[in-house]
Amino acid sequence: MKYDLSNKTVIVTGANSGIGKAASIQLAQIGAQVVMMCRSKERGEQALQDVRVAAKSENVELMLVDMSSQGSVRKAADEFLSRHKRLDVIIHNAANFDHRQTKPVMTVDGLENVFATNHVNIVLLSQLLLDTLKASAPSRIITVASKGLITYPFLDIDFNNLAGEKKFSMQHAYYQSKQAQVMFTFDLAERLKGTGVTVNCVRVGNVAIPDTRLDHLPKFLLKMYEMKRKFALTPEKMAETYTWLAADPSLDHVTGGYWDAPNVPVKANKNAYNRETQMRLWNITEEKFKK
Ligand SMILES: NC(=O)c1ccc[n+]([C@@H]2O[C@H](COP(=O)([O-])OP(=O)(O)OC[C@H]3O[C@@H](n4cnc5c(N)ncnc54)[C@H](OP(=O)(O)O)[C@@H]3O)[C@@H](O)[C@H]2O)c1
Repeated sequence: MKYDLSNKTVIVTGANSGIGKAASIQLAQIGAQVVMMCRSKERGEQALQDVRVAAKSENVELMLVDMSSQGSVRKAADEFLSRHKRLDVIIHNAANFDHRQTKPVMTVDGLENVFATNHVNIVLLSQLLLDTLKASAPSRIITVASKGLITYPFLDIDFNNLAGEKKFSMQHAYYQSKQAQVMFTFDLAERLKGTGVTVNCVRVGNVAIPDTRLDHLPKFLLKMYEMKRKFALTPEKMAETYTWLAADPSLDHVTGGYWDAPNVPVKANKNAYNRETQMRLWNITEEKFKK
């Protein structure tokens, strides 16, 4: 085996499906204690069994979290901290990209669901686990964005429309949340310099989504996914980048990167590098945390 994560603890969110599940298998195969954080007990338990069998490891556990809810995120962080002394890697893989949504949906915390799930609550979970990541250093935070951002070269955070109050499209909300993750990565990497905690972002390309996750979609969306699938990577192939970022020993001090594949750095959209916007986003995100 190329890498060794024995005695290392790794959290993967959204681990019951697609890239998160494939990454959980790869990480367990190289010895990691894998904590699969999933929204559904039923889907999570099934995936837990699958991962244990595929990886031939019992060193895998399930924790429930609904990333759209701050209460659930806080509970999951508490549960993790009560059961684990260390955290070596967290992979923020879970995301909401339900293209059936045509109007903004508010979370229990009163935030727009896509921005809350794909950005605000990821920042919250990172902060809740930061002391343990620091105490376990060298340790790693891995965020996930999307190659689709290249179709929005001028995208910026629309601070006056974060709840979709002026206008809403799922596509825009999704890409804005992913742009926010890229900015969060660059900003947090700066903030954590010298702590031994690195922050890197994966630019996920077109990855096949299993049929079982698409059967609820209207016909036109099914057609779109069928077309995309012809050119898609497998979740396993994409997960190799997560595993590389989580496990390659040469990356202990590599931080603030944006990656397409192992050893393939890419540039983000110009606005993602704007320190002023990054810091404004940081402050506004923290203001959205319920105390
Ligand atoms: N597939 C692509 O072409 C593509 C392209 C660009 C970026 N990405 C990114 O890659 C990552 C993984 O996507 P994937 O392709 O593996 O898709 P997937 O198979 O649909 O997996 C998404 C995962 O996120 C979980 N999730 C969604 N909302 C959640 C919530 N509120 N709380 C907890 N978990 C939640 C899902 O759980 P449930 O089973 O409960 O829904 C599922 O486990 C995402 O960040 C996505 O944005 C994917």
